[in-house]
Amino acid sequence: MNVVQYTWHRQSRTEYMAAALTSQMLHWLITLGLNPDLLVRGARVVRDEIRHAAICHELYLHVGGEAKQMPVKPSQLWHSDDPKAPVHLRAITAAGELACEESVALSVFRARLENATDPMAREVCEVILRDEATHRAYAWSVLEALIALQGLDAVRDWARPRIAWWLRIYLTAKLRPNEPEYSPEQLGFGLIDRRSHWTMMRATVEEDVIPRFQSLGLLESSVTGSDLERELAAMRQG
Ligand SMILES: [Fe+2]
Ligand SMILES: [Fe+2]
Repeated sequence: MNVVQYTWHRQSRTEYMAAALTSQMLHWLITLGLNPDLLVRGARVVRDEIRHAAICHELYLHVGGEAKQMPVKPSQLWHSDDPKAPVHLRAITAAGELACEESVALSVFRARLENATDPMAREVCEVILRDEATHRAYAWSVLEALIALQGLDAVRDWARPRIAWWLRIYLTAKLRPNEPEYSPEQLGFGLIDRRSHWTMMRATVEEDVIPRFQSLGLLESSVTGSDLERELAAMRQG
């Protein structure tokens, strides 16, 4: 599998996992009795993620990928953090992680669309970019609703020690010394230069995600990405 095929194969799996995880979260939100508008928005997110998985798979075939079953590990189709915790707390984790992921996905797909010249790659990136903007808004709205339901102190007590973990992928990303350079043709299928990919994800965390957690009152205003990176390192040692 070449790098273009691998990118869209992996993206299709990521979208499928997102469908599973957002549907598990939606079930929790229904059991918690969140307002119907938010539940309907949640159902739309699940529908969108299923569609994203399908169109990324079509794009994988379009770039010459082999048609075959693409198994996903069952463990990737369930939320795995704090499995014994009650649903009202697991829902905070699910919404917090989704808020981080959707915020970063938006920057990544904006960059994919800027690079894409292949018409099908452009179409796929346009659809996903448009949808991820609504998913990001949804995830932050769910967090707000959970704060309204459970109180800021309770949500902060649960969320605060976990924020660094939710951002672990973006805080610890390290580039290998010999990252491949993509050709203009590869970029034209929606790939992104490796260095700018990681730089962009980190910038999104600093400029978008951390300030939003701060404005919700879940993170102290002085905290930076480097502080969270240190917390994560301490967490991993302990
Ligand atoms: Fe998606
Ligand atoms: Fe999404």
